[in-house]
Amino acid sequence: MIIRPIAPEEVGAVGELVVAAYVAGEHLSEGDAYAATLREVGPRMNYTLVATIDGEIVGTICLCPPDGQSPAVLAGPDEYEFRFLAIAPGAWGNGIGGALVAQSETQATAFGAQRMVISAIDLNERAINFYENLGYTRLPERDWSPTRAGNDTPDTSIRILAMYKELDLLSTL
Ligand SMILES: CC(C)(COP(=O)(O)OP(=O)(O)OC[C@H]1O[C@@H](n2cnc3c(N)ncnc32)[C@H](O)[C@@H]1OP(=O)(O)O)[C@@H](O)C(=O)NCCC(=O)NCCS
Repeated sequence: MIIRPIAPEEVGAVGELVVAAYVAGEHLSEGDAYAATLREVGPRMNYTLVATIDGEIVGTICLCPPDGQSPAVLAGPDEYEFRFLAIAPGAWGNGIGGALVAQSETQATAFGAQRMVISAIDLNERAINFYENLGYTRLPERDWSPTRAGNDTPDTSIRILAMYKELDLLSTL
């Protein structure tokens, strides 16, 4: 497996992969307005990594610094955040997701981050278990709800759980 930055000509395919994975995970329906955000990889291209096996893209992650330009939602000073983690549905359970998270943690640590913060919708039990097994802990005081287009009030029927992992421990291993 190779993990590398996305190439410009790959944004369309990666957008489709993200939507396919979220739909397969049963935490997004095809018609959901959020699918358009997931598909629109171009604006987050500079932060997006892909995993390939034999030249085929099998997974992606978006590693976001708190630089005011990345799509970070939670990350503050000393923190990095990853979003839009998605593995092609046929490739789940082979360690690709774990490898993308590990690579993101390594890069964030190298850039001086002390903590990784992430979000997962509450009904995505598979991802929440996966993150817990990778050492992530709930951060309930930073749970949030998204806004819908044209409405600034958070839609509290959607509950996004915050989780974190201390990264400074990695450098002492
Ligand atoms: C959640 C998701 C990213 C996990 O990716 P993945 O590539 O399947 O993850 P991994 O293979 O690294 O780990 C999954 C499980 O397989 C196990 N595993 C890892 N390598 C393995 C291998 N070679 N053989 C068998 N099992 C293995 C891991 O131990 C892990 O088990 P755990 O979750 O109980 O810890 C993936 O299911 C996905 O894309 N889901 C839909 C999108 C999504 O939910 N994204 C996150 C939004 S917050």
